[in-house]
Amino acid sequence: MSLLAVEDLRAGYGDTVILHGVDIEVEAGELAVIVGPNGAGKSTLIKAIFGVVSTQGGRVRFGGDDTTGASPERLVARGMAYVPQERNVFPTLTVAENLEMGAFTTRGPLAPLLDAQYALFPELERRRRQLVGEMSGGQRQMVALARALMTKPKLLLLDEPTAGLSPKVMAQVFGYIRAINQAGIGVLMVEQNARLALQIADRGYVLAAGRNRFSGTGADLLANRQMAEAFLGG
Ligand SMILES: Nc1ncnc2c1ncn2[C@@H]1O[C@H](COP(=O)(O)OP(=O)(O)OP(=O)(O)O)[C@@H](O)[C@H]1O
Ligand SMILES: [Mg+2]
Repeated sequence: MSLLAVEDLRAGYGDTVILHGVDIEVEAGELAVIVGPNGAGKSTLIKAIFGVVSTQGGRVRFGGDDTTGASPERLVARGMAYVPQERNVFPTLTVAENLEMGAFTTRGPLAPLLDAQYALFPELERRRRQLVGEMSGGQRQMVALARALMTKPKLLLLDEPTAGLSPKVMAQVFGYIRAINQAGIGVLMVEQNARLALQIADRGYVLAAGRNRFSGTGADLLANRQMAEAFLGG
């Protein structure tokens, strides 16, 4: 049974259809990557899975349950977390406060949750009293990831986690994502840096104009000449 199974999903805004029947699967503990041109509907897909954009047809199953149209609150309670591309941290709060905000729906003590994130990201423990607005782009992404992990997700949805970062910092952020995935958390990530992302992906999907164009293992997609020419710049 897949952790996430998206079947023939249709979604859009008002009467506008953006996704025309998309299929995606993520197994437990897998790292899956969605790539594709601007405007393909990648962010819309992630938002429809997370209940932020309404679906117009098809089905989303998460952990074996039909969660089509479920609210983000319900999905978080079931083990899904989402890191949007922009405004994914609270810049006027400290690192520790950002992490605490991530768990505001969680009952029980926060200390073990904070400790778990600090174990994964020791730099955040050293900076726990620093304002996030004073931190670098890479450090902010670390905060955004750690904040999402405060709800103990089984699946983390990431929308372009390396957008706007230098190549060096991008490699660091990919390193954090791998570490999260190696801790057993499934990841479904949208990425513009297709080659780098597919290199660490168990599974890859190319989305174009709201439809699946290619899918396979990350290695399959990188080795596919037609796909490389059309979507990876040769
Ligand atoms: N809130 C909205 N209302 C209406 N149309 C929208 C809205 N958000 C996105 N769209 C449209 O949906 C289409 C797909 O957008 P989406 O953001 O999902 O693409 P994307 O693949 O994530 O692109 P990018 O690579 O630029 O992030 C675009 O034509 C966009 O203009
Ligand atoms: Mg997008």
